[in-house]
Amino acid sequence: MTDQAKDRVYIFDTTLRDGEQSPGATMTHDEKLEIAELLDDMGVDIIEAGFPIASEGDFRAVSEIAERSKNSVICGLARAQLNDIDRCWEAVKHANRPRIHTFIGTSPLHRAIPNLTMDEMAERIHDTVTHARNLCDNVQWSPMDATRTEHDYLCRVVEIAIKAGATTINIPDTVGYTAPVESAELIRMLIEKVPGADEIIFATHCHNDLGMATANSLAAVEAGARQIECTINGLGERAGNTALEEVVMALKVRGDIMPFETHIDTKKIMHISRRVATVSGFPVQYNKAIVGKNAFAHESGIHQDGMLKNKETFEIMRPEDVGLAGTSLPLGKHSGRAALRAKLKDLGVDVGDNQLKDIFVRFKDLADRKKEVFDEDILALVTAAMTDGADHLEIVSLKVVCGTGGPAEATLEMEVGGEEKSTVMEGDGPVDATFKAVRALYPNSARLQLYQVNAVTEGTDAQATVSVRLEEDGKIATGQSADTDTVYASAKAYVNALNRLHVRRSKTGSDQKEISYKDVG
Ligand code: KIV
Ligand code: ZN
Repeated sequence: MTDQAKDRVYIFDTTLRDGEQSPGATMTHDEKLEIAELLDDMGVDIIEAGFPIASEGDFRAVSEIAERSKNSVICGLARAQLNDIDRCWEAVKHANRPRIHTFIGTSPLHRAIPNLTMDEMAERIHDTVTHARNLCDNVQWSPMDATRTEHDYLCRVVEIAIKAGATTINIPDTVGYTAPVESAELIRMLIEKVPGADEIIFATHCHNDLGMATANSLAAVEAGARQIECTINGLGERAGNTALEEVVMALKVRGDIMPFETHIDTKKIMHISRRVATVSGFPVQYNKAIVGKNAFAHESGIHQDGMLKNKETFEIMRPEDVGLAGTSLPLGKHSGRAALRAKLKDLGVDVGDNQLKDIFVRFKDLADRKKEVFDEDILALVTAAMTDGADHLEIVSLKVVCGTGGPAEATLEMEVGGEEKSTVMEGDGPVDATFKAVRALYPNSARLQLYQVNAVTEGTDAQATVSVRLEEDGKIATGQSADTDTVYASAKAYVNALNRLHVRRSKTGSDQKEISYKDVG
């Protein structure tokens, strides 16, 4: 391997596996395909597309993502069991560039679960990695909970995995416990002590329980790791994972101090961030680095003054770098299709002709109601166009009367499974009346867990994005929508979540097989 090649950092995205493991973040099959395509297009080197043995749905998604993949390596996860690894290979083998990722928990706490001695576990690692390597020439192995594993034992099992044919060794901080100096020392120690370490790539996989995931990943890179595992928006179990946008932009912005490069097209970051927020139902916090609504907002007088004189006074990167065309003019009702297409391109959004037509109709409708259509509006329109589809429930019309002196009244017409129905319901405010009307036309036992409204831009004509999370018999579904009419956006988000529950309900129970890490024994 040349020195130049070593300076390249590979981006391994696990939004569709580790990210999707966050409670409530379940994505539909089509959404997974869409996110995988966006990841492939933005230059992600390796996409961990799922955990094929976990369910029929996961298997189908990984297989189809593999079949459609273009440049990215497509990886599936497998526990340290031969049948898991076989199932994983069956799914990823359709990719141009497949990878099997197999793992086992190596720390004392994790060894105790399958009740394996150190020697028995070492033998299991040898056998399973050898098996994976006999199927696929690209094998990643992870000692889960590496940061709490005894150093001598970690060196021993990493050496075994390398000898058995692993081409990437991933060092997970599964519980988000480590800190930057320690993270770097661990990688450095492995590179120094383990025979064969210079033949493989070390990866870093950090969880964010103490808010240090990104710092820990970057420290590992400075110590010699050359693959960062991450997710869009940092989605993931508990406090999440290292956020792709953070590590990629940190390496770009600090390129003179940290001379490592990724092949990510950073202009595509904002669009994929919005799509993942929508399909996972996990909105991005306002002050989130890079992708939060306020990440490029300058409010105080001193900051605004500085920005007007020289943007570099308070900006270490440009909004355009991440797909927000900050300085370009907003579109208005006289803007044509070509201007919209150019704007979408600026925002890193690639759409086909049919999608462009649909977004253009929505854009004209919005421009009639709103004087200036900003970048955030356009991104919200794109999200809405991609979210709406041939659904079980579709709102035909909604009229709400509300004000002082009486209950609000919602008149709703809705298609339910192709049949048009209508009702009038009263409620405690316009949203309550509307949700009651939806329930009257489509009775269901789903419990509302979250109802959240955010303004996309400034002004009273701003679009509102609404997120709704529902729970029914332990299944969680989320919906989102945007409109200048907050009540209509709320109705669409609620109906969107109900449509997702409908899809999940109609799937067979066997699709939801519970997977447990402790089955590794
Ligand atoms: O956090 C973790 O340890 C994991 C492994 C499966 C790699 O996600
Ligand atoms: Zn993880």
